[in-house]
Amino acid sequence: MSNVTLHGARIVVRAGALADAAAAVRDATPGCRAIVISDSNVAPLHAAPIADALGAELLTFLPGEASKSRAQWAALTDDLLARRLGRDTVVVAVGGGVCGDLAGFVAATYLRGVPVVHVPTSLVAMIDAAIGGKTGVDTRHGKNLVGAFHQPALVLIDPLALHTLPAAHRRAGMAEAIKHGVIADESYFHWLAAHGSALLAPTLGADLAQRLVLGSVAVKVGVVAGDEREGGRRKILNFGHTIGHAIEHLSGYAILHGEAVAIGMVAEARLGELAEVTLPGLADDIRDLCAALGLPVAIDAAFGTDAIIDATRGDKKARGGAAEYALPMRLGEMNDGGGRYALAMDESLVRAAIDASR
Ligand SMILES: NC(=O)c1ccc[n+]([C@@H]2O[C@H](COP(=O)([O-])OP(=O)(O)OC[C@H]3O[C@@H](n4cnc5c(N)ncnc54)[C@H](O)[C@@H]3O)[C@@H](O)[C@H]2O)c1
Ligand SMILES: [Zn+2]
Repeated sequence: MSNVTLHGARIVVRAGALADAAAAVRDATPGCRAIVISDSNVAPLHAAPIADALGAELLTFLPGEASKSRAQWAALTDDLLARRLGRDTVVVAVGGGVCGDLAGFVAATYLRGVPVVHVPTSLVAMIDAAIGGKTGVDTRHGKNLVGAFHQPALVLIDPLALHTLPAAHRRAGMAEAIKHGVIADESYFHWLAAHGSALLAPTLGADLAQRLVLGSVAVKVGVVAGDEREGGRRKILNFGHTIGHAIEHLSGYAILHGEAVAIGMVAEARLGELAEVTLPGLADDIRDLCAALGLPVAIDAAFGTDAIIDATRGDKKARGGAAEYALPMRLGEMNDGGGRYALAMDESLVRAAIDASR
């Protein structure tokens, strides 16, 4: 069992925690009436038992990114209003990152804000989406463009929920875990490399699952702790995401986010090497670990270099039209970019890094 606090939010990581989630929700939000929100994959597996134990209604939506919409936000909000739920409501989000972002945004805005408890069930949600207080939905102009910062009352993580997570999503989550090792924890990176195939096994043991999640949560918490609203150091979490988002976008979201991040990390580490920011050899080390975990590492010929560079400019985090890159110096340490943590790079270097990553 392990407890961390981040911006007032208690984060609990404990194998078996789902079994007494109802008591944990009641403790975190005394006197509140719970409403549980989940997608229809996770609802029967993990959300229904929690709703039953709480004596709460369970609202579900269709799985997938398409549900992270204003329409789905409106439908859920209307449902809460129709039930005449008051300010003493706690929203319990049980599911992957889509559920956490969507239900978190419902909670952030319902009656100007009611508490939310996150019970993340995908690896991406456990080590990334549920931590840091960002909630929101997508629009046709791009992902995550409408939302709010809303710190949860509790984040309850049971790493054993990974047992039911489909393999492709487990792998995709591993890309973010690898990223955490690269940006801030060299020994965690080596630990991932040493336990790679065991971490992907469907019957992942409690000890390994706990260490996998805790190592990554510690990095995310450490980075976000000093930078709640993404003014500075939090940008290092975007390593691999500038080129990664571009590729994810160009694939029409056929490539999973984590897969695109794996490709993006290799290409951006190459960029760092070309810019003489990154110790030579790191791009190969990241490539080897990603590949060993079954993640894609090369940029497909279907995505032209011009198209990728163009797409990096569409990234929300690109300020004034220039894409920014958070680059590692060496394993476990990012370049602080003179306090800006992410820098615009010469286009010829970006082009060369992309071409070298095919
Ligand atoms: N708020 C943030 O800071 C933040 C950070 C990272 C990602 N995100 C967001 O998270 C989303 C991606 O999250 P995701 O990868 O979890 O996607 P997701 O929520 O769509 O979950 C992936 C799939 O796994 C299923 N699933 C989840 N847990 C399961 C379980 N234990 N057993 C069986 N099936 C399970 C879901 O039904 C879904 O089909 C994106 O929308 C992304 O923008 C947000
Ligand atoms: Zn990511």
